[in-house]
Amino acid sequence: MMKIQIINGPNLNLLGVREPSVYGDTSFESYLESLKQIFPQCEITYFQSNVEGELINKIHETGFAYDGIILNAGAYTHTSIALHDAIKAVTTPVIEVHISNVYTREPFRHKSLLAAACKGVIAGFGMDSYRLAIEVLTPSNSPKGEETKPPSFGRVGGGLIPNS
Ligand code: DQA
Repeated sequence: MMKIQIINGPNLNLLGVREPSVYGDTSFESYLESLKQIFPQCEITYFQSNVEGELINKIHETGFAYDGIILNAGAYTHTSIALHDAIKAVTTPVIEVHISNVYTREPFRHKSLLAAACKGVIAGFGMDSYRLAIEVLTPSNSPKGEETKPPSFGRVGGGLIPNS
């Protein structure tokens, strides 16, 4: 069974209550139940902390054993070199997610210190951002049952063709 760790950072314990016009009115705990039903082939575990060091500890703890980490680091996304280094330090792929589209919001949310250390970033799809991240990690989604790889392109004549 695939092991997936979801890690939510500061203030995300208040999902459903906090700024519902931005983050929706569903608590993460109830959304998690629906995720588990959508992905019965995955063992999905959840951790939330408002403390930066606890997020780092959880990345260390799961980052060599799990098949994927989905990380919404909240505002630490925009500030934390320590989280960047933690993501770099582990072997498990980490996907950065955001519920809101941070690029339509205040300029201080436009910069992620984590993105460059992550496998990819999903932002702006509400809670569905988490589902989309699991889709990426789930091997049954790629044609050969392998991990999804970004397409590579080769040059033929004047155009670009995808390499198989
Ligand atoms: C967030 C976006 C961050 O800028 C913010 O600090 C959060 C939540 C999101 O999921 O949209 O706490 O990560």
